[in-house]
Amino acid sequence: MAGMEKSYILNREFKDSLRLYQQHWMWKYRLGWNLHPLIKVPESSKEGESFKIADVGAGNGAYFPAREHLPKIVTMETLNALDDIPAELVGVFDVVHVRTFTAVIRNNNPGPIIANAIKMLKSGGHLQWDEMDMGSLVAKRPNEATSGKAMQYLLEGCLLSMKETMGLKFDWISRLDEIFREHGLDIVDTFRLDATNDLLKPMTDNFLTGMEMMSCYVDGEGNMVGTKRNWVEMWSKAGEEINRGVTISMDMLVIVGRKT
Ligand SMILES: C[S@@+](CC[C@H](N)C(=O)[O-])C[C@H]1O[C@@H](n2cnc3c(N)ncnc32)[C@H](O)[C@@H]1O
Repeated sequence: MAGMEKSYILNREFKDSLRLYQQHWMWKYRLGWNLHPLIKVPESSKEGESFKIADVGAGNGAYFPAREHLPKIVTMETLNALDDIPAELVGVFDVVHVRTFTAVIRNNNPGPIIANAIKMLKSGGHLQWDEMDMGSLVAKRPNEATSGKAMQYLLEGCLLSMKETMGLKFDWISRLDEIFREHGLDIVDTFRLDATNDLLKPMTDNFLTGMEMMSCYVDGEGNMVGTKRNWVEMWSKAGEEINRGVTISMDMLVIVGRKT
């Protein structure tokens, strides 16, 4: 289910598809699965009683092949995850999956999305949420001798601009399991993974592709909106460090809750 929120900060074009494909690969590579192994999918189901998974905010429309090329059991609909859930989607899913929604959450509060996901679940169904923890975002140096200051400055500038322009906040991410509990979900599993060395470079390219789009949020003086930081200067200095092996690093979180 792809989202249609107009105020979403990133684009939904072919370059975004590339970013999303890579992001999907990174998650699969790090976790080894898409659906948490504790969520059991029955091997067979009776006619009309199939196991139903809703992937909310699945990606931009261009990320998917034509309907004709999708397996028959896959359907795609537009849904604003923040709006009221249509009656036909209430209580019908065994799993609701949400992934990398940092730029979608407003007012530091994922509550409305969680409440909607719970509405969509059958009793005993699972909400699986995978998130990159922006609160753990840092520049990582390959060794002590290499500076990562310009990269750190760029990252802080990007976060600051996202906070200022879009009102985004990131504190909720590390509290997500607690927020699941507050919504009455039983926690089935919750864990945090660091970025392994082999993921650092793809993670960096992926993150910066998203951030590059934010270069359109530059004010008349060439500064990233909401900051006094010059975009071109920050970008080129960070680029020099990247060429010397500096990357970003960010933790990946998975929380699975069960509707009682
Ligand atoms: C960072 S992408 C993640 C895509 C996918 N979940 C993944 O992990 O590959 C965030 C997605 O949320 C969608 N989105 C933005 N606002 C939304 C909303 N209000 N309701 C539903 N989806 C939304 C965007 O279109 C985008 O596809």
